[in-house]
Amino acid sequence: MKVPLLDLKPEYEFLKKDINHQLKACLASQQWVLGPKVEEFERKAAKYLGIKHAVGVASGTDALLIGLRALSLSLKKKEFFNKEDEIITTPFSFIATAEAIVRAGAKPVFVDIDPDSFNIDPEKIQKAITKNTVGIIPVHLFGKSCEMTAIKRIAKDNKLFIVEDCAQSFGASYKGKKTGTLGDLGAFSFFPSKNLGGFGDGGLITTKTKKDADLIKVLRNHGQTDSYKADYCGYNSRLDSIQAAVLLAKLKYIDKFNKKRITVAKKYNKAFKDILQIQTPDVGRCLPAGKAGTLDVGLNHVFHLYTIKLPAKIRAKFISYLNSKGVSARSYYPVSLDKMKAFKAVKVPYKLKNTNKIIKEVVSLPIYPFIDSRKINYVIGQIKNFFKK
Ligand SMILES: Cc1ncc(COP(=O)(O)O)c(C=O)c1O
Repeated sequence: MKVPLLDLKPEYEFLKKDINHQLKACLASQQWVLGPKVEEFERKAAKYLGIKHAVGVASGTDALLIGLRALSLSLKKKEFFNKEDEIITTPFSFIATAEAIVRAGAKPVFVDIDPDSFNIDPEKIQKAITKNTVGIIPVHLFGKSCEMTAIKRIAKDNKLFIVEDCAQSFGASYKGKKTGTLGDLGAFSFFPSKNLGGFGDGGLITTKTKKDADLIKVLRNHGQTDSYKADYCGYNSRLDSIQAAVLLAKLKYIDKFNKKRITVAKKYNKAFKDILQIQTPDVGRCLPAGKAGTLDVGLNHVFHLYTIKLPAKIRAKFISYLNSKGVSARSYYPVSLDKMKAFKAVKVPYKLKNTNKIIKEVVSLPIYPFIDSRKINYVIGQIKNFFKK
């Protein structure tokens, strides 16, 4: 049997009718860039997330970059940050997080993560603040929200902005509020593999203020405040109508799909609980969204990836054993951002003890909403066989 990390085909089968319906409307309109489908998606995404404004852009990377440029303009009245301006983030993320900081003119400051949640450690943020710190980019990695109460308190005490990197966390909540509504801005990716994925690249920026939303709309369209009137050097970073149409079809099912992911994660956790070498992720309480009176309402962890930890010395053997049995298993991420050549100019003033350890221990296993029980049981069976040997 072959079990890929992700298979989008069964999801498409399920969504075919909705997607075709949306695409037909798009074809009939012959409007391909921005247009009514994009506006409809922005409105419905904002409503779903519980925030005033959502602005579609061309990718998650652009969502981070344009978001940062908008903050530089609104907070510092400058198109780009100064190279002394420091933005604190995690080294355990996809390249885009730190890349956007550099592209916006600022300096990434990498601080260590919590070894269990894999997310940035608020205590380490606190210790890394200098007179040059301007903001924080917490990444809700693998679909699990960061500890936002502590991060928000640090930001408030030190007058820092927060841009949440929500590329992997569409639909995840923290204390009843969706990720992307907790900081100053939220940056989402609709890369096809994401929990809410398009049929190509796409992204979204969320904000509470009309002022920021307007600025972001200007920046995504070449910095133009009107036709042929560019006030800034911006980007060609509009969301395509066709992506918005696909995303509109999928948005209706996002909670259902995220719950399916959680069910798979729970099955894995239960199956691996007696295997001492495996440390499973915390599923959280994942109560249905909207249940009042509890702190942990909503889906705390939406399992963009299901990632376990193993002793470093057996990881390579474990992955190649699973691969030989047809099960895809990969390490996300095998290299931390501070070790990449692209960021060689970035000084790392703080010890990244947990990151350096975890990078050698993590393994992600197949998870997607339409993975069937036979496949899940096969993965579990092969993992049990590996540890029996
Ligand atoms: C944590 C994180 N941030 C940012 C991005 C960038 O998103 P995109 O690929 O849509 O540019 C990704 C996507 O892979 C991501 O996983």
